[in-house]
Amino acid sequence: MADILLRGGRVIDPARNFDASADVLLQGGKVARVEPGIAASAGARVIEAKGLWVVPGLIDMHTHLREPGQEYKENIETGTAAAAAGGFTAVCAMPNTLPPNDNRAVTELMVCRAREAGIVRVYPIGCITQGQKGENLAEMGELQEAGCVAVSDDGKCVMNSEVMRRALEYARGLGLPVIQHAEDTNLTAGGPAHEGAASTRIGLRGQPAAAESVMVARDLELVALTGARYHVAHASCAETVRLVREAKRRGLPVTAEVTPHHLTLTDEACAGYDTSTRVNPPLRSAEDVAAVRAALADGTLDAVATDHAPHSPVEKDVEFEQAASGMIGLETALALCLELVDAKILTPAVLVARMSAAPAKILGLPGGTLAPGAAADVTVIDPRAAWTCDPSRLRSRSRNTPFGGRAMHGRAMLTIVAGNLVFAEEKLIG
Ligand code: DOR
Repeated sequence: MADILLRGGRVIDPARNFDASADVLLQGGKVARVEPGIAASAGARVIEAKGLWVVPGLIDMHTHLREPGQEYKENIETGTAAAAAGGFTAVCAMPNTLPPNDNRAVTELMVCRAREAGIVRVYPIGCITQGQKGENLAEMGELQEAGCVAVSDDGKCVMNSEVMRRALEYARGLGLPVIQHAEDTNLTAGGPAHEGAASTRIGLRGQPAAAESVMVARDLELVALTGARYHVAHASCAETVRLVREAKRRGLPVTAEVTPHHLTLTDEACAGYDTSTRVNPPLRSAEDVAAVRAALADGTLDAVATDHAPHSPVEKDVEFEQAASGMIGLETALALCLELVDAKILTPAVLVARMSAAPAKILGLPGGTLAPGAAADVTVIDPRAAWTCDPSRLRSRSRNTPFGGRAMHGRAMLTIVAGNLVFAEEKLIG
């Protein structure tokens, strides 16, 4: 593996409070040096990064790769190619596959397929309960041994409080974070949109924001009881933000993520019945969007996570009420978050913290910093590159995005994993 010298970029490494122009030398799969004026060794690949940001590789802690079982939507190779093109050096694969990732065999298959694809790092997340049925706990110890970095029944909420209590206790013993898809399904009962003026106007059944926050409130009581590490998946409303903020003040071991779509779209986006705007939790009110933005800025919400959820036309070219929930997100996340930087809601360093350092810390993953000795997982970003999202050109196998045609500013130019170039924008490398 040749050394790589990234020359003259703006190096942003929030984990070390570093934000300055410098060269970055990658050697033997590790960050070797970060300082101005590094001389290129013989055989090193020198890449001019002037005007670009050089940041620790982005990490998506919430991706649906659909393998095994739904490879017509995505597989580990196409999903990780999409991740690399979006600037991600690692993704965490959610367990709602077919069969669900509730046992060692499925985890091992995912790890093996990811190694064969050889693009970005893949960290499986195992199920909390067997078959995601919410009844009996999965063998968390076995899942952890096989490579799972957390447990979640994502796509489904653990509704039974006793099961959730035991899950937290068990996971605590193993040091595994429990990631909750917070949704009281008695309250959501079939409503595909956020309950509010927009859903009333367009005639879609609504589900209240409280369906999310009541589960977060319950879980936080169980976190206080058990002391387990708890993480809220796709937090979407003002009340969840308030609860997480208060729990952090109480010193509870809680973290939370928010998706780029909940940061940038309101429930008004569903007005045209575009089924790619049907997501779970649903797109919320303008007040909720303002609350999650502010919470991401102040750190109440720790991380941005895509909830990349590929679906085919079979699930999406149907009535809004019948459509599957989810949109793809790996290739648009960075540009959407850069809109928040342009709007002065996030500084560049906070953006990098939320997309790299925080997920690494929450899950105990390598990366998240460019400190010498760290894994050479690096993303080089052109924060100004103008492009238009064309769904037909995305690497993902699925096309379910509402962002087609949107004028974007900023994109990944290079994605480097363990010192290997896994994605390069043509203009930069040729
Ligand atoms: O919109 C969503 N899609 N939310 C989820 O929680 C699950 C995901 C999926 O798997 O399609």
